[in-house]
Amino acid sequence: MSFSIELELQKFPKTIKLKDGKKAVLRPLKADDEKAFHQLFLDIPEQERMFIKHRVQDIKVIRDWCKNIDVGRNLPLLGVIDGKIVGSATLHQRLGGWKRHIGRVSVLVHPEYRGRGLATKLITEILGIAREAGLEKAEAAFIAEQKAAMKMFAMLGFNQLVRLDDYVKDMQAITHDYILMGLELKTDEEYAGVGG
Ligand SMILES: CC(C)(COP(=O)(O)OP(=O)(O)OC[C@H]1O[C@@H](n2cnc3c(N)ncnc32)[C@H](O)[C@@H]1OP(=O)(O)O)[C@@H](O)C(=O)NCCC(=O)NCCS
Repeated sequence: MSFSIELELQKFPKTIKLKDGKKAVLRPLKADDEKAFHQLFLDIPEQERMFIKHRVQDIKVIRDWCKNIDVGRNLPLLGVIDGKIVGSATLHQRLGGWKRHIGRVSVLVHPEYRGRGLATKLITEILGIAREAGLEKAEAAFIAEQKAAMKMFAMLGFNQLVRLDDYVKDMQAITHDYILMGLELKTDEEYAGVGG
């Protein structure tokens, strides 16, 4: 599976145009991105950072990600504007096990660069890679307060799969409702193609 991901990654870096006409470069995370990637997380307001699953303000967490890149497990695709990392979408895969056909996706965009379509472009690329890697479904997890994100995923075709009240705790140990959204990656056409 990671072989097809490596192949897909040959398409990058890719330059795209955002809604405001500015250009952004999309490319996978590299080992030497540590400082610039960490800065993206530091620029996220603290009340929002609370909802991120990892202690991303800790440089050691980011160093570990940059030094141990395994695209078959975690593939961070970055959005870079004027040389600055301003967005990231990740495809997470669980190798083996009963979720091996499901890719989990997540996304984050720098507050000053939102509303220009960057998250939509990043997630669209990541879903394309997931499809090429043979994944059958995509899922994305949220807390109820992440309304903008859920609206964006709904626009990309994701549906709510489950909602559990007061199920998860943020970094301050405050509970939140948990929402899982999902998308089928296989189209009928592809199924037909397999048979024919
Ligand atoms: C959610 C997030 C990634 C969106 O990034 P973005 O680059 O601004 O998104 P886009 O410009 O591609 O917006 C796509 C759509 O999302 C919706 N959206 C984005 N921001 C919104 C907001 N503040 N309020 C309501 N809807 C919003 C809109 O429908 C928008 O489409 P439109 O501009 O055509 O109306 C960004 O706000 C973010 O990083 N949030 C914090 C992290 C997070 O919640 N991640 C999701 C966890 S998986």
